[in-house]
Amino acid sequence: MIQCENLVKIYKTLDTEVLALQGLDLNVPDGELMAIIGNSGSGKSTLLNILGGLDIPSAGKVLVNEIDILKLDDAGLVSYRRDTIGFVWQNSARNLIPYLTAVENVEMPMQIAGKRKRIWARELLDMVGLSHREKSRLNQLSGGEQQRVAIAIALANNPPLLLADEPTGAVDTETTEKIMRVFQRFSQDLGVTVVIVTHDRQLSKAVDRVVAIRDGRTSSEFLRRHSYREVLEHDKDQEGEELFPQSDETHEEFVLVDKVGRLQLPRHDMERLGIRPNSRVSVKEQDGRLIIAPFTESE
Ligand SMILES: Nc1ncnc2c1ncn2[C@@H]1O[C@H](COP(=O)(O)OP(=O)(O)O)[C@@H](O)[C@H]1O
Ligand SMILES: [Mg+2]
Repeated sequence: MIQCENLVKIYKTLDTEVLALQGLDLNVPDGELMAIIGNSGSGKSTLLNILGGLDIPSAGKVLVNEIDILKLDDAGLVSYRRDTIGFVWQNSARNLIPYLTAVENVEMPMQIAGKRKRIWARELLDMVGLSHREKSRLNQLSGGEQQRVAIAIALANNPPLLLADEPTGAVDTETTEKIMRVFQRFSQDLGVTVVIVTHDRQLSKAVDRVVAIRDGRTSSEFLRRHSYREVLEHDKDQEGEELFPQSDETHEEFVLVDKVGRLQLPRHDMERLGIRPNSRVSVKEQDGRLIIAPFTESE
């Protein structure tokens, strides 16, 4: 669904240049439910805006659903944004129309695309758990409910890809759980590819794969030991797994090696082992493993 290669984004202002993305690589297979985590300022929104066709990179390659978005003209971008992606962000609810009902709001983008379907709008509201509120006006719903309407709207035109930038940033824990369950259903029942950007490490426990970005590059990856599908198959009779298990044992961490063999060491390991930035490390092979250690003069 997504192939990014060596993405670079430089923001130029009057007197400064900010390198928001510094050669980022990312591949996301069809139907994956994944999260991108990183501290504030690490380039997450920049990446999502590029994937959403809202911003263009300074260099690099981006293919989404086999579409080369950098080659699209204005009309191409409009239909790309309408048909290929759904976008949700922290304050999505601001774009809803307060005096229309929930179901009318969900129908709006379909109407703009020239196909109004009450049945699909109802189905989407059902998927986000708001069937009982379909006739309520938007301004009669809570913030969390409004955000769920916004998520239903993102899928109104059946896009194969849903991009969510800090979708739970402004809601309470209970709503966060509801929203993550909605994303899991979209992925499992509709086959939609879902990319969630967040700085909340807790969220990443509810997805199959997490890509960590640091300083505008993908640095490491966390893979679920057992995919959600396996877990659901396994305890069909039971309640299913906790959405946010207490332990950190759900995912295994991997460091990514790029095309030319570069890797970025996890910062916590560098600090723990006393490896300073811009210094030498020794690399030795032992029994088919590479051992990276701080370099000391005596070696
Ligand atoms: N429009 C812009 N103009 C200048 N700098 C920007 C702009 N948007 C983002 N940046 C800078 O790019 C870097 C990455 O920002 P962003 O992608 O928003 O990070 P994140 O979403 O991970 O917090 C930050 O240093 C930010 O200040
Ligand atoms: Mg952001």
